Amino acid sequence: MLENPFTVRGTIQNPSDFIGRKAELLHIVTRLKTMQSCSVVGERRIGKSSLLYHLFQTGNERLNDSRFRFVYIELTDASAQTVVDFLQTVLQALNLPSDSIKDDNKPNRNLVAFDSAIKTMVASGTKVVLCLDEFEGLFANKQEFNDGFFNHLRSMINQRRLALVTASWKSLEVYAIEEKLTSPFFNLLSITELGDFTPEDVESFIDYYQPAVQFTAKELEFINWYSEPHPAKLQIFCDMILQWREQDWDNDTAKERIAKAYEILGGKHDWRKWKRNVAGILSCGSIKTWLENIKIARDLGTGI
Ligand SMILES: Nc1ncnc2c1ncn2[C@@H]1O[C@H](COP(=O)(O)OP(=O)(O)O)[C@@H](O)[C@H]1O
Ligand SMILES: [Mg+2]
Repeated sequence: MLENPFTVRGTIQNPSDFIGRKAELLHIVTRLKTMQSCSVVGERRIGKSSLLYHLFQTGNERLNDSRFRFVYIELTDASAQTVVDFLQTVLQALNLPSDSIKDDNKPNRNLVAFDSAIKTMVASGTKVVLCLDEFEGLFANKQEFNDGFFNHLRSMINQRRLALVTASWKSLEVYAIEEKLTSPFFNLLSITELGDFTPEDVESFIDYYQPAVQFTAKELEFINWYSEPHPAKLQIFCDMILQWREQDWDNDTAKERIAKAYEILGGKHDWRKWKRNVAGILSCGSIKTWLENIKIARDLGTGI
């Protein structure tokens, strides 16, 4: 039986599975050229982690500059619960000694030691970029990650010793207000809002999987009229189609099941509102090409 490629629900790890996001990547990469920091903001499951991880994997190539050194850290991870853990995790990821960061040092001493370690890298021409996913994780421990910590980060960013690319659900300025943090760090980063896939991204997504899954005319038509450009929803939508393709589904039953499957993303999903009024999400040209390719493959397969 055909393997279903749409079952993965976590961060995209294989760079060739990463689709689209050209404008967002360009925005970030352009800024990183001059070591300016960026903050990616978007709702749950919109693709923030995948974007940051992809940047971590392909940043050097995109910048066409081997001096950049990318580090990816998830800040809700156990390795980043205290300032000491965080600083050590970063240094270890950069293959730098981390024993100058100690639990019994004063916080400022650790930050200064961290800064000196990074300075040695900068002096050798390396440009350090920290991709910090789930940045809101830091606010769970405000005693540790306080204004002093953020001021120190800000000064390192200002002096181009570090660049950050953060991902969070809300903008950092909003967290600063909510958490009563006053450090100017919070309005330093350039915001990249991550939303739905563009129509081109949706097409690239189908195009990428079509040779393996061979959506039929009926299935493509269904995707065209009812799927949404939200990356995780699109993934679930295609997953459900493959799961039920052997059954003789009618559209309403399928939509009802898909809406139920969307519940893992949170909230209610009313399938009665799904039909697009003006145009489908896929272009007629693409649908035609995909169907022609299926026919060619079938003809070749049967030797006609
Ligand atoms: N650029 C992308 N290309 C392909 N699929 C994506 C992309 N971005 C997100 N997805 C899909 O959406 C899901 C959620 O993405 P994720 O990066 O975990 O979002 P977030 O970190 O915002 O919660 C992924 O499991 C994947 O299926
Ligand atoms: Mg995430």
